[in-house]
Amino acid sequence: MQVKSFEEYQQVYRKSVEQPEQFWEEIANNFLWKKKWDKVLDWNFKEPKIEWFKGAKLNITENCLDRHLEKNGDTPAIIWEPNDPAEDHRILTYRQLHDKVCQFANVLKNNGAKKGDRICIYMPMVPELAIAVLACARIGAIHSVVFGGFSAQSIADRIKDAECNIVITADGGYRGNKEIPLKSIIDDALVQCSSVKKVIVLTRSRTPVSMIKGRDVWWEDEVKKVETQGNLDCPAEEMDAEDMLFVLYTSGSTGKPKGVVHTCGGYMVYTGYTFSNAFRYQPGEVYFCTADIGWITGHSYIAYGPLTQGATSVMFEGIPSWPNQGRLWDIVAKYKVNILYTAPTAIRSLMSFGDDALKGKDFSSLTKLGSVGEPINEEAWHWFNDKIGQGKCPIVDTWWQTETGGFMISPIAGITPTKPGYATLPLPGVQPVLVDENGKEIEGNGVSGNLCMKFPWPGMLRTTYGDHERCRQTYFATYPNLYFTGDGCLRDEDGYYRITGRVDDVLNVSGHRIGTAEVENAINMHSSVVESAVVGYPHDIKGQGVYAFVVCPNLHDDPELTKKDIIMTVARIIGAIAKPDKIQFVSGLPKTRSGKIMRRILRKIAEGDTANLGDTSTLLDPAIVDEIKAGAL
Ligand code: WT7
Repeated sequence: MQVKSFEEYQQVYRKSVEQPEQFWEEIANNFLWKKKWDKVLDWNFKEPKIEWFKGAKLNITENCLDRHLEKNGDTPAIIWEPNDPAEDHRILTYRQLHDKVCQFANVLKNNGAKKGDRICIYMPMVPELAIAVLACARIGAIHSVVFGGFSAQSIADRIKDAECNIVITADGGYRGNKEIPLKSIIDDALVQCSSVKKVIVLTRSRTPVSMIKGRDVWWEDEVKKVETQGNLDCPAEEMDAEDMLFVLYTSGSTGKPKGVVHTCGGYMVYTGYTFSNAFRYQPGEVYFCTADIGWITGHSYIAYGPLTQGATSVMFEGIPSWPNQGRLWDIVAKYKVNILYTAPTAIRSLMSFGDDALKGKDFSSLTKLGSVGEPINEEAWHWFNDKIGQGKCPIVDTWWQTETGGFMISPIAGITPTKPGYATLPLPGVQPVLVDENGKEIEGNGVSGNLCMKFPWPGMLRTTYGDHERCRQTYFATYPNLYFTGDGCLRDEDGYYRITGRVDDVLNVSGHRIGTAEVENAINMHSSVVESAVVGYPHDIKGQGVYAFVVCPNLHDDPELTKKDIIMTVARIIGAIAKPDKIQFVSGLPKTRSGKIMRRILRKIAEGDTANLGDTSTLLDPAIVDEIKAGAL
């Protein structure tokens, strides 16, 4: 599946556009199917209807596990590095991972799980998280992983939306010097969720937890039962290529997060192919993606993609800066990591520690580097290239989204000539177009516009859970017959793509996607708040910070205390990742005569660019702008 030269990439790319079905059929033949498809592709972007490999039967876990057993059963599948470097690391070979997945799949069955059920997973970054995910896939249950940084309320919203009947969690989890009381957060969430009948709790932190009779069971006890039953193997459920594999919630510009749905066949082919091709993964290489499985990057490029290719994937429980600023580099040296895939926000934060944190570290194992999550600034790119890659490792800047399932625009490591800040060229099978405001395609080079896709790819979302119309509205209605990404993009004179960031009301804070409307709703829950407007502003480490303009007319308390209360409210409603970095109290918001908040103006003020705010004469109360400008933080 890998191309070996730039010329070959160009040939393959051309073929993938001219004969997409034949192209993807050949790629799909590299995977294990119980039955092959009747038809490669059926689609329209109007409804939308997207069906890849219809009629084919498979189970993705047989591709991730069983098919490696004969030749590579003893190859490490997961190398797990604990939060605390003093704790022992763990290595799970493909055989061991297979056995544990089968065992836990039987635990799920014993607890009433069936094909098609939705199962919520809220766990720390331990191997059992990967095991839980794969065990769901093994029995055809649909997993909905919720990142450990989300609040009880966010979990409850997600559980209710997908009507999950089982939750898999742990007593607690570690991240740096923090301990997160996962089970207790789940208990708070479940007060609202009557659909949940079972909670399976892994022992990790040994923090005291409440266990409700009939509902809550310990992971370890349940595994023992399976062992006593001698019920160790679990045949893989036969899935249709278009059966749902998982739901993953992500934020948009309006309302509540939506459940992006991925299906078994296309997602498997797409993540496996893009992992293999973009990183040019070679057998034996050690690959380390620093993401959390709670995000799409972890789903596609810690779990599924690498495992379908028999790769060795390092999974890290902690954070790069704990217990010291050299932690990440120690992990790279400890496991002789060859491929390091991380995010610009992490790179900038590591860069800010200065060169001292790099002294004496051994980077010699590294051969390829990757970046994902937000546009990478040139300074960070060069630092990553020079200091970490020592000038000898190609950097693959992979542009993609929760909705795309896998890499879309990305260099092929060592093959595509790179340019700092550029995701470079579309991978084979990906057909990007830039359009103007009216949806008219902007052709040629040296242009910029809104980034869309004009042809489906196997890894794309199929729907948003329980609300197909919302999927149509969000992605396929802005420009007829195109998938709209929400990103702005420029294509330079060489045809290279550079993502310039979101053009909608979505923020990218430390690579986490946050909807401004969601944060506003949370802020407005605070009892003193009348209304608020949230925008992003450039932040040295996080990429974007959250700036909130808040109307709080009767501030009795100390304003600083009220700010803290508002921050606490947001953490309660959404989670710590959405906390505002700056809160400015204002007496009103700039609105048009029809009552629409003029975000453009607030964005400029937050960015500190108050010189040219544009035309403010159409505002309901133009004077408010001067007040806000004067009080800007
Ligand atoms: C948004 C998707 C896909 C994994 C992580 C984020 C931004 C992502 C890049 C990149 C510039 C990027 C886009 C995109 N983004 N990767 N390499 N260069 N921007 O997934 O949470 O679904 O967010 O992240 O704005 O739309 P996500």
